[in-house]
Amino acid sequence: MKPLIIANWKMNPVSQKEAENIFKGIRKGIKKVKSEVVVCPPFIYLSELNGITLGAQDVFFMDNGAFTGEISAEMLKNLGVEYVIIGHSERRRYFGETDEIIRKKISKASQFGLKVIFCCGETIEEKTAGKKEEILKRQITKGLSRINDNINIVYEPVWAIGTGNNCGVEEAKETINFIRKIAGGAVRVLYGGSVKSENSGEYIKSSGANGLLVGGASLDAEEFVKIVKSAE
Ligand code: PGA
Repeated sequence: MKPLIIANWKMNPVSQKEAENIFKGIRKGIKKVKSEVVVCPPFIYLSELNGITLGAQDVFFMDNGAFTGEISAEMLKNLGVEYVIIGHSERRRYFGETDEIIRKKISKASQFGLKVIFCCGETIEEKTAGKKEEILKRQITKGLSRINDNINIVYEPVWAIGTGNNCGVEEAKETINFIRKIAGGAVRVLYGGSVKSENSGEYIKSSGANGLLVGGASLDAEEFVKIVKSAE
């Protein structure tokens, strides 16, 4: 299985010109790599970027109609988008996304043949209270109604996202194994949370992660290319 390395640009950058520059830098740098690379820019840049597999950062669970501001799975599919991130902790936290909403989004995305990047992970409070496994089990069993080849699970401890406090390699390994046990099947399990080129290779080599979800560091083309190469 080739490593799957995903760039999650979140709500960045502020102009199309910058988006094109970062994208071009990545495209040039990954020409010879074997890993599968996916870039998830904000919706508005999706139709302008090409030459690397694209993912969206969100999708709505209805087909079409009076849902102001939303984007459907079919729209993404028609644009040539292949992947979609669902269940990211920022969407759970700032947009009130529940396991139920996430489950509906995953079903709709799957119905239209989009590959799902499903994120799960515990907060620092949950971790301290010894509830990590309980939380992961709930997020996975309630959010995913079935597992198939189109589902990729990312373990993203909330306390590691954007903090520089990445999860230790041993802990990531244990948790990834736990997720594999809960999810069953040959599902790909990735790691995300303060991934940089200094720590990225370890997750693939020592934690058994099948790939990485990279936020902040993916906005720097050179750094992201280094991350991709470290996983080869
Ligand atoms: P980070 O974000 O790499 O900036 O920690 C990861 C993510 O939220 O997907």
